[in-house]
Amino acid sequence: MTDGPILITGATGFIGGRLARRLTSAGLPVRAMARRADATVAPGAELVMGDLSDRASLERACEGVSAVISCAAITGEKKAPPGGYDFINADGITALAEAATAAGAGRIIHFGGIDNGGSKPGPYLAGRRRGEEGLKAAGVPWTILQPSVQFGPHAPFIKAMAGLVKGPIAPVAGNGRTKIQMIHVDDVCRAAQDCLTGDERLGRYIELGGTEALELNGILDIIGRAMGKPKVRKLHAPMPIVKLQAKLMQVLPNPPVTPAAVELLEHDNVAASLTGVEQEFGFVPVGFAAHVASHGLEL
Ligand SMILES: NC(=O)c1ccc[n+]([C@@H]2O[C@H](COP(=O)([O-])OP(=O)(O)OC[C@H]3O[C@@H](n4cnc5c(N)ncnc54)[C@H](OP(=O)(O)O)[C@@H]3O)[C@@H](O)[C@H]2O)c1
Repeated sequence: MTDGPILITGATGFIGGRLARRLTSAGLPVRAMARRADATVAPGAELVMGDLSDRASLERACEGVSAVISCAAITGEKKAPPGGYDFINADGITALAEAATAAGAGRIIHFGGIDNGGSKPGPYLAGRRRGEEGLKAAGVPWTILQPSVQFGPHAPFIKAMAGLVKGPIAPVAGNGRTKIQMIHVDDVCRAAQDCLTGDERLGRYIELGGTEALELNGILDIIGRAMGKPKVRKLHAPMPIVKLQAKLMQVLPNPPVTPAAVELLEHDNVAASLTGVEQEFGFVPVGFAAHVASHGLEL
């Protein structure tokens, strides 16, 4: 790696923010990209303004960087922006990789997710794949990280599930048997940091999952116990009804559920192996239930 700063996009977000703090604490030079001049980013990081919808801003953000870590995206939990998810998650990611290539960055490490879309991905996953294809075609050496759902301080998924568990009956999409390989955000950030050096992870997709594949029902029970609810009562709604509700709710400014979130939860969110992180990075990720029992939900 050259001496230039490491650009982290999405530095105001859950993963990007945590990663920026980790890298600055390790003494690495971090340039943190945000959309607002008054954004709070990791202490010690250089703030740069940038938006995935604005190519010129990406070119400025990439000037002189040694590497780019791409954490900015519109996640499936959020309502699609006016131009649709693809405007950011496909076109924006392609533009970022092209800017990184033009700036001579040594590599780009991009955050996708476990891709459970198979041969017929829904629109959200199809857009994410298009972004990844654009990124790979840009020319800069790449690694695509594919984490499962994460827990840890201020994890969006845990916040959303705790909101459901708080009520008298937790509504659950489908039968609740979808499996998720929960992984701590710090384990994900550790893996991302490891990808900054060496050539052996370039040109590869790398899945990041915890050591257990837990059913959504079980995850809600663990969250319930941490909230002092020994029994979480659940209402399982058939998927077609959930999909219809999600579609209708898109008229709301902040819908509680989106078609993209339903798409991501429809199939198991698990990696090919339960020991993939240990094999690839040489450490064992912390377990969800044990971590929540000792640290609480960290909302
Ligand atoms: N969290 C998980 O459990 C999880 C699991 C698997 C994969 N992932 C993937 O990992 C990535 C990061 O997730 P996250 O949980 O950190 O998401 P997040 O907390 O929602 O953060 C998203 C970041 O992207 C930024 N952003 C959104 N639109 C942008 C735009 N047009 N230009 C520049 N920046 C923009 C946001 O900035 P503002 O603050 O300005 O909105 C924010 O900093 C996503 O691709 C997500 O799908 C996450």
